[in-house]
Amino acid sequence: MNIFITGASSGIGESLAYYYAQKGATIGLVARREDRLKAVVEKVKELGGNPISYILDVANQEDVQKATSSFLEQAERIDMVIANAGVGGSDNLSSGNASTINKILSINILGVTNTVIPFIPSMKEQKSGQICIISSIAGTRGLIGHGGYSGSKAAVRLLGDSWDYSLSRHNISTTVVSPGWIATEMTARHTFKMLFLMDSETAAGKIANAIEKRKRKYILPWQWNIIVPIFRFLPRWMIKLVSV
Ligand SMILES: NC(=O)c1ccc[n+]([C@@H]2O[C@H](COP(=O)([O-])OP(=O)(O)OC[C@H]3O[C@@H](n4cnc5c(N)ncnc54)[C@H](OP(=O)(O)O)[C@@H]3O)[C@@H](O)[C@H]2O)c1
Repeated sequence: MNIFITGASSGIGESLAYYYAQKGATIGLVARREDRLKAVVEKVKELGGNPISYILDVANQEDVQKATSSFLEQAERIDMVIANAGVGGSDNLSSGNASTINKILSINILGVTNTVIPFIPSMKEQKSGQICIISSIAGTRGLIGHGGYSGSKAAVRLLGDSWDYSLSRHNISTTVVSPGWIATEMTARHTFKMLFLMDSETAAGKIANAIEKRKRKYILPWQWNIIVPIFRFLPRWMIKLVSV
């Protein structure tokens, strides 16, 4: 299998890389932190995978285009692309400067389009392929102070939903994954109790299984399947109470 994973230097992306390394996959690994990605490359090799690493910012369309072309050249075909790279953070609304929120929106939204779209012509030609987009349950409602994050995750959920109409007829599946709390660097700074917290290795196994089953939507841990529909209709005053 030939797989391209963004955000592979830590957390869910790193765990997905190890999952597919154990299956002997050729894996394109993307992230900005060179030292961290080097360590992942070594472990992928140890586990039996064939890593090809790219140090870049997914918000940079030209750099991602070059990396996807290089991967296609080396691997010769693409079986799966996982657009996982993402960042959180506050909107910094009172700063009077849009750069903080723009960075979140660029990485989380353009990072997905920059990563997935270059592979579509090859997938169409092959008449096969699997796309996975990592959204979040935070994309269900606009969260207080984190409109950029929740807005970006809602946007990529809808991108995946839309793309599936066009791509499924070419035997290309699109799986939008919405995780709840997963124990990674992104959540490590939280001091509050994270409901149904799951480790990233378990999450990676479950995500891989959802992609394999060609599910269009996948929420994990399973308990959020009950909470998300309720959360969608909660009155705004209740959102204020549960927001952190
Ligand atoms: N953890 C959770 O509870 C949770 C819940 C819902 C959704 N998610 C989503 O899951 C995805 C993975 O997050 P995580 O929890 O595994 O956190 P993480 O450990 O912080 O991993 C984020 C990954 O994205 C990479 N990344 C960030 N910005 C990038 C950029 N501009 N260009 C290239 N790579 C970039 C990071 O690598 P570098 O810093 O080295 O670039 C890192 O490998 C994110 O999209 C996140 O929104 C996480």
